[in-house]
Amino acid sequence: MKIIITKNYKTLSTLAASLVIKQIKKKKSSIFGLPTGHTPQGLYQELTNIYNNKQISFKFVKTFNLDEYVGIRAKDSRSYHSYMQKNFFNKIDIKKTNIYLPNEEADDLKKECANYEKLIKKFPIDLLILGIGHDGHIGFNEPGSKFSSKTRTINLLATTKASNAKYFGGQKKVPTQAITMGLSTIMKAKKIILLVSGNDKANIIKKALKEKITQKIPASILQKHPDATIILDETAATKLIKLL
Ligand code: PGA
Repeated sequence: MKIIITKNYKTLSTLAASLVIKQIKKKKSSIFGLPTGHTPQGLYQELTNIYNNKQISFKFVKTFNLDEYVGIRAKDSRSYHSYMQKNFFNKIDIKKTNIYLPNEEADDLKKECANYEKLIKKFPIDLLILGIGHDGHIGFNEPGSKFSSKTRTINLLATTKASNAKYFGGQKKVPTQAITMGLSTIMKAKKIILLVSGNDKANIIKKALKEKITQKIPASILQKHPDATIILDETAATKLIKLL
């Protein structure tokens, strides 16, 4: 596991963007796993800037998003479908047919999850980018998720609902369920980058990286990944710095 501490959120985002570009330059048809949330917004902005300067094309890239809420339609501005369109896909030359997100509108969600898992098996992820939740979740794999878990529906915990309340106008309005790639799905990615920003994440990231690997802290599984890079800004690294 490689740990990189950057000065601030901007340098975290530019470094992450440079690793994405490096991957595309190595393989035009790279397959990415992508996160949503606050943390990757700077990364998507940097990638959009690089694209606007005609320095890269996403024409042959495929993407698989980590997760999506259940009960929020794709067209709803709060869905992760909308987030991705607004923050990234609408701004670059990626082909619509190369974009994959879990479809919560499917009649049979169990089947949808199995299909998503099958698609990822067919198109193995070269580089998967993650954020971490305050409870240590990656994707929406909440504490207690099995390390062997695959793409499935999951009940969101109160900590996650509290973190996401700002997007829904209150914790009670946050959806109770989501579809998420499983921890085993995530671990199969050839390369992983975890982005961590802000001192509200300092405690959980220290636990995830420096304490024992446990299903109680899903992100701790990353300690076992053969090619994981953790990029933190200084505020997120305050608890970790003494231990490095
Ligand atoms: P955040 O979300 O980037 O909005 O903090 C991270 C996550 O919950 O995975």
